[in-house]
Amino acid sequence: MRKLLFSLILLISVSFSKAGNPPDEGMWLPMFVERLNYVDMQKMGLKLTPQELYDINHSSLKDAIVNLGGFCTAEVVSSQGLLFTNHHCGYEAIQKHSSVEHDYLTDGFWAASFEEELPNEGLTVSFLVRMDDVTNLVTEKLKPEMSETERSAMISRVIEGLKTDASENGKYQVSVKSFYNGNEYYRFVYEVYRDIRLVGAPPSAVGKFGGDTDNWMWPRHTGDFSIFRIYAAPNGSPADYSKDNVPLKPKHFLTISPNGIQPNDFTMVWGFPGITDRYRTSHGINATLNEINPAIVRMGGVILDEMKKDMDASDETRIKYAAHYAGLANFWKNKIGETRGLKRLDVYSKKKAIEEHFTQWVNADQQRREIYGNVLQDMANSYDQLNSTGYNKQLWYFSMAFYGSKALPFPLANQGMINILKSGQKGDELKASLAPMMEAGKEHFKDYNPATEKKILIAILQTFKNDLPAAFLPDIYNEIDKKYKGNIASYVDMIFKESVLVDEGRYNAFLKKPSLKKLEKDPASKLTNSFYSYFMTQTMVANAAQEKLDKAERLFVDGLRKANPDKVYYPDANSTLRVSYGQVLDYFPADAVHYDYVTYADGILEKEDPTNEEFVVPAKLKELILKKDFGKWRDKEGRLPVCFISNNDITGGNSGSPMLNGKGELIGIAFDGNWEAMSGDIAFEPALQRTISVDIRYVLFIIDKFANAQRLIQELKFAESNY
Ligand code: ARG
Repeated sequence: MRKLLFSLILLISVSFSKAGNPPDEGMWLPMFVERLNYVDMQKMGLKLTPQELYDINHSSLKDAIVNLGGFCTAEVVSSQGLLFTNHHCGYEAIQKHSSVEHDYLTDGFWAASFEEELPNEGLTVSFLVRMDDVTNLVTEKLKPEMSETERSAMISRVIEGLKTDASENGKYQVSVKSFYNGNEYYRFVYEVYRDIRLVGAPPSAVGKFGGDTDNWMWPRHTGDFSIFRIYAAPNGSPADYSKDNVPLKPKHFLTISPNGIQPNDFTMVWGFPGITDRYRTSHGINATLNEINPAIVRMGGVILDEMKKDMDASDETRIKYAAHYAGLANFWKNKIGETRGLKRLDVYSKKKAIEEHFTQWVNADQQRREIYGNVLQDMANSYDQLNSTGYNKQLWYFSMAFYGSKALPFPLANQGMINILKSGQKGDELKASLAPMMEAGKEHFKDYNPATEKKILIAILQTFKNDLPAAFLPDIYNEIDKKYKGNIASYVDMIFKESVLVDEGRYNAFLKKPSLKKLEKDPASKLTNSFYSYFMTQTMVANAAQEKLDKAERLFVDGLRKANPDKVYYPDANSTLRVSYGQVLDYFPADAVHYDYVTYADGILEKEDPTNEEFVVPAKLKELILKKDFGKWRDKEGRLPVCFISNNDITGGNSGSPMLNGKGELIGIAFDGNWEAMSGDIAFEPALQRTISVDIRYVLFIIDKFANAQRLIQELKFAESNY
């Protein structure tokens, strides 16, 4: 209650005071830190100069932070291109190298030499070379009378040009992204390395300790880290994997602090947060609570249940589906927590208060009324339309089905095959054209179990049928009704007996002797096409409402910023490099409950449960903890810190981000958020929202004492120890 009052007071006061966000809120653009945040950061304990943070002419801190594969963050920690990130960020790579014989998920993996470091096809690391404000270059081409479609087309055209201009003939990868819901545009120039090798990973009993039960929660005892290395051509430039590549000599790498943390210490996170939606309105909150999240949680839960049963029954299936399951379970639990948080923290009312203030501002001036007068009503109407047509629900059932099932999307990846077969190619020419499909099949079926996929597909089709009105179902359901008397199981049975797209043996045999007729009639392909085209039709129908919504959101954010000229609004996350700063801080999760800021190794033994795979403690770890054999990684009191929390503002994509102290030294690796503030992607909650990091001393302890991988410790650079 005190907090609600606090935010209301803050809201009311922002327009006429200099009060900005509390310092912990916001994911700031590095190029503006000097202007917007630096003084504040210095007051809180930052010791570096703005140029040491971000400089495009000299090496700076930003050069040690990389985007890992587009989904995580990693940091360079040695002069030989060594990278630290999370275990859950390396999880898929670790899984792909695992088999029942070499189960690196269970046992961990430690390369004993450079030669043993494992290449990962497709995994990339991107360094930000620079970013530029291109807002004017984009917006000068836009006219108020343009329709949203014309506007988007123009923006895409300008962006294409801006990308080409900066790419230096393909040397750099360039992206231009919209900020503040289409009100500003920035260009990002990246150098992308393509030979990234796995160097080390603890067993899941360390890296994923607590499993899905502890996920998204504090207190935590997870050693969520893994280690990779960037390789480059001998001249240092990016190159495809080759045994002649050498470890990258980076422009900059982080120094590690062995000195730990104290409550209220300054903390700073650099990384690539993926998506936040902090400007979502009360209408959006309603849609999230009533339509979107329930659909995600329902369909996600159905799929996870089927997958888990088969994973528990076979080690082979467990390994094959480990990364897929973890990703889906992570997203699913996030949405459960988000719903809970939105309700408990009454985010709807907070958004309403912002909107009321916005409306007052609009109504006070005729010109404002003309520009912004319809914004909130347009938003309400769009959401009404999207909900009444069932679009939001369908969208999320569909998305979860295509995300959770491996069989359902695969025919889409084979669309090109039809045209190849129609072209009449023969012999070697045909073989060459089909080679990419052969490759795609190898990749796809490697982590695929037909029996599991069959169960998942049955459950998905059944859930669509149970939950959606008949009028909202793709037309394939008519066929299921007619030919299979509505029996989904026997229909799916037939698919798994006949389709060449759901079984590795049949797929490969088909590619050796392809037939257009057979492919056109393929039942899996027919099912997927029916779902896909139904969904595309719905998307077309929803397009007008969606466009109206996009426009209203753009104007809302624009108006909001003008209505509160003294408040510095930070942009939503969009997978671009951001800085967030705050301090090490405990919290009170509920009435009379206090959560401290740090966990210790003893807590691992408190949680130990040998009968539950999520809470198994490896024998060697247990022994080290019992003997208090923590080496030089113990704190002054002889304890081993495991994880800590701080009030930095992060989200998914920040995973693996360096947690830095005031001198820019590495003190931890950020890996999670906390349950009490899971609505945080939509509204930051200062009193509750925390970032969970693994303490770097626990990481070093695992590398040194648990894994005996001293060759890695020797590569690192440490700040002087003060004890
Ligand atoms: N919640 C973490 C994040 O999204 C991922 C944690 C992965 N661990 C797990 N038990 N699934 O960054």
